[in-house]
Amino acid sequence: MKILQINSSARASASASTRLADSIVAQLGTAHPAAQVEVLNLATHPVAPLDEVAVEARFTPPDARSPEQAARAAQDDGLVAQLLAADVIVVGAPMYNFNIPAQLKNWIDAVTRPGATFRYTETGPVGLVEGKTVYVALTRGGFYRDTPTDTPAQYLKFMFGFLGITDVRFVYAEGMGRGPEMVEQAFRDAGEQIARLVA
Ligand SMILES: Cc1cc2nc3c(=O)[nH]c(=O)nc-3n(C[C@H](O)[C@H](O)[C@H](O)COP(=O)(O)O)c2cc1C
Repeated sequence: MKILQINSSARASASASTRLADSIVAQLGTAHPAAQVEVLNLATHPVAPLDEVAVEARFTPPDARSPEQAARAAQDDGLVAQLLAADVIVVGAPMYNFNIPAQLKNWIDAVTRPGATFRYTETGPVGLVEGKTVYVALTRGGFYRDTPTDTPAQYLKFMFGFLGITDVRFVYAEGMGRGPEMVEQAFRDAGEQIARLVA
């Protein structure tokens, strides 16, 4: 089993969502001792946002690309290959301003490409990233689970589904802004969620 862990907190260290993602990976490692883990830390290895070069690279055949377009296509191709090689993807996703971090959106923009991770058909787009499980470690200062304001969960469920991944499992640690006791309680609750989900 190959696990791809994507940490999207702006904090390279002391991140709550990375701590939670680490716990999920540890539990998966216990269940699957031969699992290989690859970590993509977007705080230290950021994905460039979509810009004109990135968009033009998509519409330009490889042998006609400028050096800048070729470099951008190489970054995106590498991220797609890394995603396709994984069996399980574990995403650390803090809530920033009621949404996912911009870095995670940049990663999604880099890997969501027709012909690579989805294709158009006469009946609409079809995801090409099949047979994978995604765990998402959601951390946030307040409480939004099962409410219309839980934009990160709704968007990530839809977006991974669009790419063909229907098995998306969420682990919540909420109330991270309500003091150390609430934080530790949230991590204890999350530990129980992880045990249930990985089992
Ligand atoms: C820039 C920024 C924006 C945030 N926006 C929200 C928010 O909209 N709602 C919320 O409940 N918490 C918000 N928080 C709190 C974080 O979601 C929370 O502290 C989370 O645990 C951070 O995870 P991390 O340590 O992995 O970055 C925000 C934190 C930061 C730094």
